Order: sequence, then C-alpha cells, then structure tokens
Amino acid sequence: MSATPESIVRIGQIGFGYWGPNLARNFRAIPACELSALCDASPDRLAMAGDLYRSATLYTSFDEMLASEIDGVAIATPARSHYPLVMQALKAGKHVFVEKPLAMTTVEAAEMVETAERLGRVLMVGHVFEYNPAVRYVKNLLDSGAIGDVYYLYSTRVNLGRIQSDINALWSIAPHDISIFLYLLGQTPESVSARGARYLSGDVEDVVFCSMQFPSGVVAHVHASWLDPSKVRCMTVVGSHKMVVYDDLATEGKVKIYDKGVTRFTNPQYGEYQYRLHTGDILIPKLTMQEPLRLECEDFVRAIQTGESPLTDGRNGLRVVQVLEAAQRSMERNSQEIAINLAAA
Ligand SMILES: NC(=O)c1ccc[n+]([C@@H]2O[C@H](COP(=O)([O-])OP(=O)(O)OC[C@H]3O[C@@H](n4cnc5c(N)ncnc54)[C@H](O)[C@@H]3O)[C@@H](O)[C@H]2O)c1
Repeated sequence: MSATPESIVRIGQIGFGYWGPNLARNFRAIPACELSALCDASPDRLAMAGDLYRSATLYTSFDEMLASEIDGVAIATPARSHYPLVMQALKAGKHVFVEKPLAMTTVEAAEMVETAERLGRVLMVGHVFEYNPAVRYVKNLLDSGAIGDVYYLYSTRVNLGRIQSDINALWSIAPHDISIFLYLLGQTPESVSARGARYLSGDVEDVVFCSMQFPSGVVAHVHASWLDPSKVRCMTVVGSHKMVVYDDLATEGKVKIYDKGVTRFTNPQYGEYQYRLHTGDILIPKLTMQEPLRLECEDFVRAIQTGESPLTDGRNGLRVVQVLEAAQRSMERNSQEIAINLAAA
C-alpha cells in the first residue's frame, strides 16, 4: 500500500471531464508513476479516456476502483463531490490528490485534514499556481526584500466562460488567486469582505469582488468573473521600493519589475510633507518555465514515495476554504466584513 522512493506509484483517477485529461496526461508522463486506473460515471467520457490510455483499467464505480491495487487517487470531479470522494478514498487507505477547492465548508475541509493525518495518508489540493515558476519567482522576490514592504496586491481573473451552474465564480475561479496571495505573503487573511452579482441564471454569482485584510496590514483584492469581454490573468504587487506585475497570459515578460516608488519628505522651505516620485527601469527577468501541472503531479508522487508533505497539502487547502467561506458569508450579508479564525488552520 505505501510506496518507497524506488517504487512505481500507481494512480487511479476519478473524473475525466474538462480538467481531468490534463491531470491524466501529466501523471502518465511521470516516470515514477503509472496511471493504472480511470473512473468516470459518464460512459462517453470513460470511453474517451480508454482510447487515450489503453493500459489503464476503466471503472464506472469508484468503489471498484478503490478496491484495485492503486496507491493514490486523483480526484477531478465537481467541487461538491470532493468531500465524500476524498473521505472514501482516505478511509480505503489511499493517498489523495483533489482538485481545488478542497471542500465547500471549513468543517468538511478540517475533517479531511484530520482524517489524512490520523491515517498517515497524503492529502493534497490542486492549487496549481503555487507550482507556477512565475509565481515562485515573485515569491522569491518578495521574500528577498527586493520590493520593500508589500503595501497591497490585486488580481484580475476574468473571461467569457466557462459558466458554471453548481458553484459561483468565487468558488470556481478565485481559489487560484487566494492560494497565490496566501503563498506570496505567507499569511492567512484576518478578515474578508466580498460582493457578488448574479446576471445569467439568478442562482450563482457570475462576478465577484473580494477583498482580504492580512495581519501584516497588507490588503489584497481579487476580481473573478466568467462574464467579461476579455481574458485577463493579471496580478499586481505594490511595494515600498518596487512594483511587480505578473501577467500569466504574456508569452514573453510574464513578470515585470518596475523600479517605481514614492518617497515622502518634508519641504524645509514650507515645512509641509511632499512626495517625490521615482521612475526607473523596468526589469523583465528570464524565467525557466515548466508546466505547473507537471510539477504539481510530481509533488504528489514524491509525497507518496517519501512521506513528506506536498507544498499544497490539506492544511493549505483548508486555509483557502476558510477564506472562501468567509467571502461567501460576506456576500450573503451585504459585504459585511467577516473575521477568520486564524488558529483553525
Ligand atoms: N486547476 C485548474 O486550473 C482547474 C481548471 C478547471 C477545473 N478544475 C477543477 O477540476 C474539477 C473538475 O472540474 P471540470 O471542469 O473538469 O468538471 P466536469 O464537470 O467537466 O468533469 C467532471 C467529470 O467527473 C465525472 N464525475 C462526476 N462525479 C462523479 C462520480 N461521483 N463518479 C465518477 N465520475 C464522476 C463526470 O462524469 C465528469 O466527466 C473541479 O474541482 C474544478 O474546480 C481545476
């Protein structure tokens, strides 16, 4: 059941819809891993999976796949199914990778973390941007102190589509930005306030504006929407010395470091505060890009082999769910500021 650093890790994946094929492609490409089973409730999707991965055993029943000889389960099914499927897999003794968000409530997420820890199984969530070399570059930059104190940061993740009906834009899109914020700052927000709007179905928010207050005083903001004319994936970090723009869609210059800033000084002639603007060079660092999803899947396989925690472990997933849940509550209470219990994760 438990793998060693030398042994091949056997993965069974459930969910071969929109995102599942990306995971399967990456697990298949890892030498230390064998994609040995695939499960989907849809016969059409399963047939498609079977055409692509002829050596994998196909299942429509998750129970049957769990009874097979696999070490780990990768879950790429809709968010509301994560909690029952993860719990079932953990209790069957499997290591679990699950797509974001980890769960739909903090109570569920905490139970998943506790169960994985008690049973000594890996629990990992697909916060794929924490494996993105551009995001890691920005993280190193912030940690090095090169941009000074972080004042604030904001992110735009908008597009026309993919419209969801079971979850809103907050739970579907914003987990990425929230996980990046927490990763970059190394903190969880102490409070959250959000506003959303429903236009298409009237059932779920198509657009969400969510602001987070961090213990350090940093403010972060995300605009998430599937109802927008342009595809934008852009994040700005404003620091006391420099400013950084990370544009995930840019083919060249994904990260730009602006030598721009403002100094406040007292004018001796008038005794008043004045501001001196500084505008210097814009640096575009050379990044060695690797597919973030490959790095993420490799981290899951490595965690199973070594017993070491993956970067985006269950507690990481729980912290993001805490923020999402607080934002959801805020939206339901006319943008009221909702405090987060920082001791819980
Ligand atoms: N990391 C990313 O960038 C990214 C992008 C898109 C989606 N996702 C995540 O991937 C997950 C799946 O999203 P999607 O858009 O692929 O959904 P989807 O609806 O397109 O596909 C889900 C698949 O799971 C199957 N399925 C659902 N419940 C099942 C069950 N109980 N047993 C067997 N099969 C079942 C469905 O038949 C379907 O084929 C979600 O958690 C989503 O948040 C992540």
